[in-house]
Parts: sequence; structure tokens; C-alpha cells
Amino acid sequence: MDNCNLINLIKNKYLSNNKEDVLMHVENVAELAVGLANAYNLDVSKTKLAALLHDISGVMTPQEMYGFAKMRSLEIDPAEEKYHALLHQRVSKIIAQEEYGIIDSDILNAIECHTTLRKNASVYDKVIFIADKISWDQKGVPLYDDLIKSATVESLNESCYLYINYQFDNNLLVMPHQWILEAYEDLQKHR
Ligand SMILES: [Fe+2]
Ligand SMILES: [Fe+2]
Repeated sequence: MDNCNLINLIKNKYLSNNKEDVLMHVENVAELAVGLANAYNLDVSKTKLAALLHDISGVMTPQEMYGFAKMRSLEIDPAEEKYHALLHQRVSKIIAQEEYGIIDSDILNAIECHTTLRKNASVYDKVIFIADKISWDQKGVPLYDDLIKSATVESLNESCYLYINYQFDNNLLVMPHQWILEAYEDLQKHR
């Protein structure tokens, strides 16, 4: 399947499930991520696919995601056990593989850790992670916009660090996922 068809299929999935809002979000993330991909010399079409697919599990309810994860015997983090929606990054990766035939590990990994990041994250992981956060911020949710945006131009690492640091400093993570704890530690070590 060529990329154009694939992109149309992905978009239709959101639309046929009445998830116009999620489609708008992933398209916004794609735009931001492609900008970063150019700055960091990444493959633009891979970045775009990762962005468009990162929230594809948004067509499911958190309860369905939990059932899906259980059925596949995924090891479930205590944070995911309590907040099933946290599973959406890992479920999106499986859908990308199984429904859209994605085999590229840069794409799959970036989808899989877009909410929590993880230790030894790739540049693709960081680009999707940060583009996702900036996109939510544009909706006027949190106030770390300036923090991460200015840092992104200088250093993707610093940007990821500042975002996660903000989360911890403001007690926004009631029950942190193991991956974000490890990402935080890793980023702090390499500042
Ligand atoms: Fe997400
Ligand atoms: Fe997202």
C-alpha cells in the first residue's frame, strides 16, 4: 500500500468512529512533528505516520484497551492498572502493527512511548512525545508551553526533561508510570 492510501485509511478510521477531535489532534501533532523532524534530520514520512497513528486506540474506551492488553498478556504497570487510558500508547502501537502493517521500529517505538517516554528514547520518540505535548498545550490546557517550545529549538533532550520535570514539580503525576520515572532519571543524567 502506498503512503497516501495508508494515510487515508488511518484518517477514515478516526472519522468512521466519530473521533474528529482526535483526528484534528493527530494532524496537529503531525504538523508539529514534521517541523521537528526537518530540524533533526529525521525521515519525514515515518514521523508523519507515527504522529497520525499515535492515538489510533482513541477509537476504544479505556476499559476496552484494558481487555485488549489482557488478551495479549501484556505486562501491566500499576499506573495502567489504575488508569486504563494510560495503556493507549501501547495499544496504539499494536493496532499500527496489526491493522496498518507497520513494521518500522522507529515508528512503532515512538507510538508506544508517546505519553510517558522511556529510558534510552530515540530522537523519533522524543519528537512525537514533545509534539504531542505542544499540541495539547495549544488547546490551552497546561502552562509549560514556553518552557518546552523554547527548549525544543535548542535541545530536544532539555525540552523532554523540562516537560517531565514540570509534571513532577507540580504533582501532576499522581501515580507515575515506570517508564516516565526511568525517562526522567535518564534525561537528568544526560543534561
Ligand atoms: Fe496519546
Ligand atoms: Fe496525542
